[in-house]
Amino acid sequence: MIQSNQLSEVVSLIDVTKAYGSYGRETLALKKVSFRAHLGELILILGPSGSGKTTLLTLLAGLQSPTEGTVYIFGREVKEYSNRELQRLRAVRIGFIFQTFNLIDSLTVLDNVMLVMKFGGLRGKEAFIRAMDFLDRFEVKQLSKASPRTLSQGEKQRVAVARALVNGAPLIIADEPTGSLATKQGMGIVGLLRRSVNEENRCVIIASHDERISDYADRVLYLSDGVIAAPEIHGNS
Ligand SMILES: Nc1ncnc2c1ncn2[C@@H]1O[C@H](COP(=O)(O)OP(=O)(O)OP(=O)(O)O)[C@@H](O)[C@H]1O
Ligand SMILES: [Mg+2]
Repeated sequence: MIQSNQLSEVVSLIDVTKAYGSYGRETLALKKVSFRAHLGELILILGPSGSGKTTLLTLLAGLQSPTEGTVYIFGREVKEYSNRELQRLRAVRIGFIFQTFNLIDSLTVLDNVMLVMKFGGLRGKEAFIRAMDFLDRFEVKQLSKASPRTLSQGEKQRVAVARALVNGAPLIIADEPTGSLATKQGMGIVGLLRRSVNEENRCVIIASHDERISDYADRVLYLSDGVIAAPEIHGNS
């Protein structure tokens, strides 16, 4: 019998180890890490600098392969996907928010969003309307014609979130999304991600060293030196 949580499983890691460097001089960034993430939950991965957070997120997005263990993305082992399929997956079904935002300064805010929609297969008027709707939702519509270069950190962050969500990806991965933001702005971003879980049944995975995000998370995983401590259950906020 198929259980309902199997149907909603988005990604899972089973005994995943990731080593960098050559044999004998290698760094073990992750050691036998296992966890599952489902639709409708916001998972926070908390850990100090160097604990393996970014490494974990890149494995979840299929940007790197594990040294040992198994990564499943949308129910299929990551090594069974071709590079092309993984690219397609990242264009349509996985939204990534980078710590440094990765906005393209030579394009306008609107074109930054339209570009990912083009990769996702939506163009023209329909894409324009949807892009403006998302910019409006994140209160940056008035900046649609500006270059990201001229935006504040908080505005850049909201554009980056709009861009990650606009294709309707069920899995959203965010690396230190509150990084350079003041508390109020930072928690504002996390609140928007929380809403996308509650209202659109997405799965959001955030890596951070910022414990205040715990209040918004369904589950917190503590990562220390590449090892996950026992997960804690948090109330939904
Ligand atoms: N490409 C790489 N080559 C070699 N070592 C790496 C590489 N990427 C990460 N590491 C090492 O793996 C470990 C985990 O790094 P990672 O970037 O995943 O940590 P992090 O928790 O994201 O840290 P931070 O909070 O500073 O972003 C560190 O010891 C780091 O030096
Ligand atoms: Mg990192």
